Amino acid sequence: MHRFGCVYWIIFLLHRASCYHDYYYNYTLDPVSRQLEEFRAEHPRPIGLLTTSSGEPVEIRDTVTLNTEIFNRNFHTELTSHADRERIQERLVHAKGVGAYGYFEVTNDVSKYTKADVFNGIGKKTPLVGRFSTSIQNLGGPELSRTLKGLAMKMYTKEGNLDFLCLQPRVYLYKDPVMFVPIVRSFRRNPRTNLFDFNMVWDYVSNRPQTLHALLWLQSDVGIPNGYRKMNVFPAHTYEIYNKHGDRYYVKFNFISEQGQDNLTNAQAMVISAMDQDYYSRDLYNAIAEKKYPAWRLEMDVMSLSDIKNIDYDPFDITRLWKEGTYHTIVVGRVVINRRVENNFKDNEQAAYNPANLVPGISGPQDFIFKARRMFYPDTQNYRLGVNHNKIEVNMPRYERTYNRDGVPPLRDNMKDAPNYYPNTFNGPVPYVEECRPKESLLILENQTEDLEPSNYFYHNVLENDAHRQRVTDNIASSLQNVVPSVLKKTLRVLTLTSTDLGRRVRSSLKALRAAAAKMDTAERYRRLAQCFEMNMNPKY
Ligand code: HEM
Ligand SMILES: *[C@@H]1O[C@H](CO)[C@@H](O)[C@H](O)[C@H]1NC(C)=O
Ligand SMILES: *[C@@H]1O[C@H](CO)[C@@H](O)[C@H](O)[C@H]1NC(C)=O
Ligand SMILES: *[C@@H]1O[C@H](CO)[C@@H](O)[C@H](O)[C@H]1NC(C)=O
Repeated sequence: MHRFGCVYWIIFLLHRASCYHDYYYNYTLDPVSRQLEEFRAEHPRPIGLLTTSSGEPVEIRDTVTLNTEIFNRNFHTELTSHADRERIQERLVHAKGVGAYGYFEVTNDVSKYTKADVFNGIGKKTPLVGRFSTSIQNLGGPELSRTLKGLAMKMYTKEGNLDFLCLQPRVYLYKDPVMFVPIVRSFRRNPRTNLFDFNMVWDYVSNRPQTLHALLWLQSDVGIPNGYRKMNVFPAHTYEIYNKHGDRYYVKFNFISEQGQDNLTNAQAMVISAMDQDYYSRDLYNAIAEKKYPAWRLEMDVMSLSDIKNIDYDPFDITRLWKEGTYHTIVVGRVVINRRVENNFKDNEQAAYNPANLVPGISGPQDFIFKARRMFYPDTQNYRLGVNHNKIEVNMPRYERTYNRDGVPPLRDNMKDAPNYYPNTFNGPVPYVEECRPKESLLILENQTEDLEPSNYFYHNVLENDAHRQRVTDNIASSLQNVVPSVLKKTLRVLTLTSTDLGRRVRSSLKALRAAAAKMDTAERYRRLAQCFEMNMNPKY
């Protein structure tokens, strides 16, 4: 027995030694894994005395409850009741995201087009907060799926917050805002199976083929970027802007990645996702920690008021691209992301990006989608964060004086003793006068028809070669493998009407996939499907 114990100890010690060897031998942890170590290095001693939330110092015996009057001490009761209540509702869409701070810098003079202070004066820097997100997954979901990716930015300008909410395709899914809810539902979990279901996706898309254009972008190489740093993003709408003389211009903003665009195939994304569902968030955190600050060039595609009135297509239709040769592009500046959020919940979860947050010189888009968004972002944020969401630190503008009072905290100073009604003769805050603000806005009426031409153009002209067209059609085909015949028939019809080549390629790719699947035993087929749906993407058999 004794001898056995001795051998055991020797093995144990050798084991310990080799462990330390493995752990410490010339091995550098990534910044994500060093975060707590860095905290301790900055704070060589405990950061203070532990208290309850009311400030009562906590005595060490109150940190255990066994054999005590357990509800007699605030430390334990407060700890657990706080956790019982600490979840708030996640965002309806774009729930999973990562936040970071940075700045916008003007690199080109655009005062000819807009009087917006933030865009005028070469070298001027404006602080901003940003949020990179994936649109369909819930708060804990994988980031690499083939869904819309977002980058929302809030620039803290001298004239109030200017928010840009951008997505990675240049075009959006639909032009009638009433389509938002049904399309979101069809892209998410089936209410009975609680699983992603391509029957719902293709049923909806084939009923409303205007959605196909943005979906083709998603099925193309840019659909799964190799990191949030490596994607271009677009607010998509046509914005109305004006200069100090009141001349109006119509622009599309483009944020072009200075890191270059890089893409993952389904196969690559699945390998990464199997090891790391948070690949994008980790990549961003580590890049900033290593001072590889990602940056985006802000460009503006411009048309004048007369240009806009003399073109043969609808430039306000968010589901289509502006035609080449009808506009010119100028650089405005660059966005640099250089600081990680201090605390995720405080600076990222509580952030409320609202496309209606605009500044003088940018009157904003006039299309129906934007009009709806002006209403529904603050609506959902009132529900998610409360009516005082702009008084949460991350959302606070540099300057603000309103006639709103009270409500669910935070309240800041609640405007103290100032008059609370407008107009008044007691020197409460007063509005300003802006002579140059355009007296009228374009009234835009949009065409109800389902136009397949933009999708056809994308397929034949934006996709640069047949190899890329084949990748797109393979991706579509694999998502159609388990779609029921009625939906499949309808979908193939829409794809063929869009382009006979698209229809033909999807049909033949689908035939090959189904033939391969038929040879697999059921267990293997189900195993692959399970992966495919979990990712909301379509692995190739
Ligand atoms: C009718 C059309 C649309 C509706 C009703 C809608 C609705 C929403 C809602 C409810 C949220 C969650 C907001 C929150 O909880 O704070 C959201 C987030 C977002 N939307 Fe939209 N959306 C629409 C179109 C668009 C378009 C056209 C774009 C950009 C081209 C866009 C980009 C984004 C982005 C980037 C986020 C994430 C914001 C964040 O990170 O907090 N959306 N949208
Ligand atoms: C330790 O790491 C450094 C930096 O990566 C490398 O240059 C060096 O060769 C490594 N040393 C050994 C013994 O592996
Ligand atoms: C990613 O895809 C886009 C669009 O096809 C292409 O322009 C870009 O070069 C690709 N990036 C890489 C690194 O292949
Ligand atoms: C609506 O769009 C269709 C298809 O592009 C076109 O044929 C028709 O002329 C348009 N109607 C109007 C009023 O612009």
